Amino acid sequence: MSAPTLTRTVRSESPEETHRLGVRLGELLQPGDFVGLIGDLGAGKTHLVRGVAQGAQVPRSEVASPTFAIVYPYNGRIPLHHADLYRIADYDELYATGFLDLLGGESAVLVEWLDRIPEAAPREYLRITLRPSGEDARELHAEAFGPRPAELLTAWLA
Ligand SMILES: Nc1ncnc2c1ncn2[C@@H]1O[C@H](COP(=O)(O)OP(=O)(O)O)[C@@H](O)[C@H]1O
Ligand SMILES: [Mg+2]
Repeated sequence: MSAPTLTRTVRSESPEETHRLGVRLGELLQPGDFVGLIGDLGAGKTHLVRGVAQGAQVPRSEVASPTFAIVYPYNGRIPLHHADLYRIADYDELYATGFLDLLGGESAVLVEWLDRIPEAAPREYLRITLRPSGEDARELHAEAFGPRPAELLTAWLA
């Protein structure tokens, strides 16, 4: 894989701070943006996604709905899809879900466990790796691949 266009690291000191970071990102997302989230169970991926959904003006009830689907569609300020690749075995299985049809379309796409199927990422995307750095602290390491993801990352942490 080629080197990232831009990288930034930000520290979150609490779940609320991670949520707020998500809100800010959600305010900036545009159709076609792809954000991949990486981190072990409990790293804070879902906290970040819930913030993103709020920032993208997705009704709270949609995000809360329990389902076992791989891809969750949200109706916000823009269409948003939230995927979780945790239970996906390989690229062929992902293909069968229709997930790949979302790429480059009208929707912004957020993907938890992108490291399970790295080939799921388009050529240009923002990758965020979350790592615990204390009981309530997390390090968010963001890597932008391509000009639009770099612009998104710059605006996010400005
Ligand atoms: N700074 C932080 N950011 C996000 N979550 C945190 C933070 N500090 C502690 N936590 C806790 O870690 C857990 C993260 O859970 P979740 O967002 O579901 O993670 P994941 O989706 O990565 O498995 C929650 O229990 C949350 O309260
Ligand atoms: Mg999660």
